[in-house]
Amino acid sequence: MFTAADFIPETYTSTIEKGNFEWSAPSNIALVKYWGKKENQIPANPSVSFTLNNCKTVTKLTFEKKSISTPHNVTTEFSFDLLFEGKPKEDFKPKIKKFLERIEVYLPFLKDYHFTIDTQNTFPHSSGIASSASGMAALAMNFMNLEKKLNPEMTEDYFYQKASFLARLGSGSACRSVKGNVVVWGTQANIKGSSDLFGVEFPHTIHENFKNYQDTILLVDKGEKQVSSTVGHDLMHNHPYAERRFAQAHENLDQLIAIFESGNLEEFIKVVESEALTLHAMMMTSMPYFILMKPNTLQIINAIWKYRAETNIPVCFTLDAGANVHVLYPENVKEKVLQFIKNELVGFCQNGQYICDEIGEGAIAL
Ligand code: PMV
Repeated sequence: MFTAADFIPETYTSTIEKGNFEWSAPSNIALVKYWGKKENQIPANPSVSFTLNNCKTVTKLTFEKKSISTPHNVTTEFSFDLLFEGKPKEDFKPKIKKFLERIEVYLPFLKDYHFTIDTQNTFPHSSGIASSASGMAALAMNFMNLEKKLNPEMTEDYFYQKASFLARLGSGSACRSVKGNVVVWGTQANIKGSSDLFGVEFPHTIHENFKNYQDTILLVDKGEKQVSSTVGHDLMHNHPYAERRFAQAHENLDQLIAIFESGNLEEFIKVVESEALTLHAMMMTSMPYFILMKPNTLQIINAIWKYRAETNIPVCFTLDAGANVHVLYPENVKEKVLQFIKNELVGFCQNGQYICDEIGEGAIAL
């Protein structure tokens, strides 16, 4: 069993003065949802997600060791510039500073360097697609790349585990954006190696039906969310249904183990849609209560149910903490489902916008 202390490094064997790395990391879409957490970003229940392929953040990290002559005390402050799409972005800095503070004990070199973090997303800005998962994962990959230079003996397993561990401290679900098609985060008795501290590649058989699984993201509402995930997670403390919900997530994850193996899409759809609606039911039954779905979210859900009943095509939906709808379906019905989306669902999207994505591999060094 890993503990957080396993990620505190001993002395480094190498040095590096300056350089740069560039990593991309994708977004991910949870099938069993993480909603509710304990201290230090420990999830209240395990979750599992499909890693996406097209929606990603690309981050370049440039670093240079501070010299003794640098003004201010060289080792007591973080020093970094932040660029978003090539331009300085001051309002992102507090979030990054907080992230650096959280991970400093695990990366004790952070105050020795000046960093330039240059980041951009492949999906439209303010599309309502959370960039925190891909963004924190891409940054964590870069920092791990630097740690690997300082400790070249590091194993590949440690590299990815610790990258996921660090990403988690930035944004919980970011730990599922590091490596693998299907990623589990949170301890689950039947999933060997699963951990509350980092995401792991789903270790059991995955049926061909899930190969290149498609996710078309319908952009229903691109506005700022009224309630952030942070507040939503917090409202699971003292929530009347919390304990039962956390137990249900374990049950649904166990069911998915069997479903991934058999390829039973009917059962897959039941678990996935129930998880999406349960997530939103938790929001509606929090105190204070809130609703993130919009009228068009429900229109889309009903249209999917009608289409599925009429055609028997195994298309389903999931939701994250917002109004957008992720339409999930196997690759062999791609043409038909895209036609259905164009004919019947695009009208419910803001400015007719949607993004075609599919299952992907995780972070990549560029
Ligand atoms: O990682 P956070 O704190 O933004 O929370 C994400 C929560 C959901 O997207 C709603 C569910 C999930 O497991 O990704």
